[in-house]
Amino acid sequence: MVDGANIMVVDDEEIVRDLLVDALTEQGHTVHACHSGQQALEAISANGYDLVLLDIGLPDMDGFHTMAGILEKSPDTPVIMITGDATIESAVGALKSGAYDFLRKPFQLEMLQKTTSNALKFKRLDRARRASEAALRESEERFRTLVENSLIGICIIQNNRIIFQNPEQKRFYGKLAEKPLNKLVSYVHPDDLEKIIAAYHQLIAEESGSVEAHFRFYPSGSRGKDVEFRWVQCRASLFHYQGEDAILLNAMDITRSKELEHILRVKSKMISLGRVAAGIAHEIRNPLTGINSYLYTMEDLLTLDELSSEDLQVMKQIVEQMQVASNRIESVIKRVLDFSRPGAPTMSLMNANQPMEDAMKLSAVTLRKKQIQVKASLEKQLPECYGDAHLIEQVILNMIDNAVKAMQIKDDTRVLRLRTYTKNNGIYLVVSDTGAGVPAGIREKIFDPFFTTETDGSGIGLAICQRIVNDHGGNIKMSGNRWGGATFTIELPIDKRVDSR
Ligand SMILES: Nc1ncnc2c1ncn2[C@@H]1O[C@H](COP(=O)(O)OP(=O)(O)OP(=O)(O)O)[C@@H](O)[C@H]1O
Ligand SMILES: [Mg+2]
Repeated sequence: MVDGANIMVVDDEEIVRDLLVDALTEQGHTVHACHSGQQALEAISANGYDLVLLDIGLPDMDGFHTMAGILEKSPDTPVIMITGDATIESAVGALKSGAYDFLRKPFQLEMLQKTTSNALKFKRLDRARRASEAALRESEERFRTLVENSLIGICIIQNNRIIFQNPEQKRFYGKLAEKPLNKLVSYVHPDDLEKIIAAYHQLIAEESGSVEAHFRFYPSGSRGKDVEFRWVQCRASLFHYQGEDAILLNAMDITRSKELEHILRVKSKMISLGRVAAGIAHEIRNPLTGINSYLYTMEDLLTLDELSSEDLQVMKQIVEQMQVASNRIESVIKRVLDFSRPGAPTMSLMNANQPMEDAMKLSAVTLRKKQIQVKASLEKQLPECYGDAHLIEQVILNMIDNAVKAMQIKDDTRVLRLRTYTKNNGIYLVVSDTGAGVPAGIREKIFDPFFTTETDGSGIGLAICQRIVNDHGGNIKMSGNRWGGATFTIELPIDKRVDSR
């Protein structure tokens, strides 16, 4: 049942007109009656109608002309033609001219009700269809605007071909469309190719989700011809496009941020280098000042005509002191060289518990003397990893040495905790103490060469530790702990075999 509609009835025969008006009003519609074509055209311009019932034989103009006028003014309004002519030609003629349906006089009321109800339903569905088409067009337009103005390059790959590229993608990558994927290999930096292929296989194998990678890319595809590459951050996701599997690629040009990252790294290296230089200068200046003042004293003595045995004694002492000072300078230089050229690691499969236990044994006497309790918890099933056990032992020894110094100044219970465990493809070696911890203000400096807070320290221990662990492809982190002391955590990769330098 269609709700009450606004209907126009056009018929010059009063009896028929009244019959139609009464019947349709009875059905709940609002009905407007006209007796001529002209009147109907005026009425349709003034009001919108949901439906028109139109007699074919009007006195002033024939029904086809009237219908043409109605449809011109209100194309969405369905028209039902009423014809007194029972021939099939007149019916076909009505439909061909654009009528929705036709009724032949005389008609049953039931037929009238059925035909009008169908026409009104059609009108309602037609309106809904137009509204959803408009909404679809609007949403397509919105997405098109978003995609076309996006600063992120977007492209769609299907059947191993790029089938869509947005303007940013074309601007940055050039026109890649139409090229089969394997031809795009020449656009990727050779060092990143393996990574990209692995990410692609991972995406395909998982059959859902997405993968991310960053890599170097030659926009013109002419790698090797001395062309600058760009850095790209890319996310690939599987999705369904036009009934088939496809890959959606979002890619962003991160060349600028990579450049800034590099500048920052260089800057921080320069700052570290500055600190190192200041450290070396500081270490060398004291003995050098000593040597200079001894030289002056010696010069004074040599101006004397004759040297007494006492003077000779003084000269001997001066030479000895100068030797001490020069040895000190030599040891500084040696430490600097040790740092810049530590022994090359000899990598082999090792169990990281081994260097931990060896370091514990070596420090056992010192720890006992300093009344430090040791609590070790080493994971029994620790996977093996590549490394130089001897160098890792040195790292642990340095850390134990620092922990001992840190706990020395505290009177309460002194506990050194050593722990190993494995997590997420990494092996972790942890050294914790109950010392005073590292104050927040110096945390970022403790790994710098020559940074020390100890009067007799050279500040090279942690710098060497970091160097060794980095050479293993791992890293060291320092944090506070619940005993108020410091915790150093070394992470070594399990599956990465870092080549010996
Ligand atoms: N366990 C720790 N607790 C508190 N502070 C620490 C700890 N380990 C290191 N530090 C801080 O970091 C600084 C640098 O340590 P690093 O081992 O590099 O040098 P150092 O111990 O002072 O001298 P060196 O190791 O060359 O004899 C230390 O002087 C100290 O201030
Ligand atoms: Mg140290």
